[in-house]
Amino acid sequence: MAITIRTPQEIEKLRRSGQVVREILEQVRQAVRPGASTLDLERVAADKIRELGATPAFKGYRGYPCVLCTSINDEVVHGIPSAERKLHDGDIVSIDTGVVIDGYYGDSAITVAVGQKIAAKTRKLLEVTEASLASAIREVKPGATLGDVGAAVQAVVEDEGFSVVRDFVGHGIGTRLHEDPQVPNFGRRGQGQKLRAGMVLAIEPMVNAGKPGVQVLRDGWTAVTEDGSWSAHFEHTVAVTADGALVLTQ
Ligand code: MF3
Ligand code: CO
Repeated sequence: MAITIRTPQEIEKLRRSGQVVREILEQVRQAVRPGASTLDLERVAADKIRELGATPAFKGYRGYPCVLCTSINDEVVHGIPSAERKLHDGDIVSIDTGVVIDGYYGDSAITVAVGQKIAAKTRKLLEVTEASLASAIREVKPGATLGDVGAAVQAVVEDEGFSVVRDFVGHGIGTRLHEDPQVPNFGRRGQGQKLRAGMVLAIEPMVNAGKPGVQVLRDGWTAVTEDGSWSAHFEHTVAVTADGALVLTQ
């Protein structure tokens, strides 16, 4: 349960990894189009990771087979790239990736609309999920609590009639992909762990258009909504500084 406080030099290394993750995600975003497969996206990311001299953080993590997680529509997180999974106009796809460089990790996710035929409610789901992450990041400063962070996500999401996934949470990150503390996307203001300068968190709201329940498919990885509603996911790696949040993945 120990939370590591990182030095400014370590934060700089984490920022380097965060910048590489950002570059990969922007490259993959440009490859998202109707007809592309999620394996096509995986290849774009794997090539970029190699070009930038980074090491993928997800591949081999607990046996996970790829450098990306690609989660379409009612898939919440941890979808496995596959040549058989083609993107269609009107779909949404969450793209999640991490790298490690010189021992320090970065982790970020975006959800992207495919083509032009996006339903208004789907567009709203993406906007609200991204706004909930921004609201959480605005809470980050020394003396704030993880309850403040979770409550901020929850307020933005629930005000729009969407729901926050409870079964997966964000995490500390640094010299491992997942460190303490857990960072729930729900909570009560003033409750939970107090933030201190030098803590580094991956904040990653997962938001369902319908009910919050999720289940994991027989592949052992892909999490889908129980009610079939669509789900969005955005993630940033964020350092706590005296001045507030420093977003390392933007
Ligand atoms: N970004 C996700 C997380 O932080 C995905 C990692 S799971 C993996 O939990 F197995 F794909 F690595
Ligand atoms: Co993460």
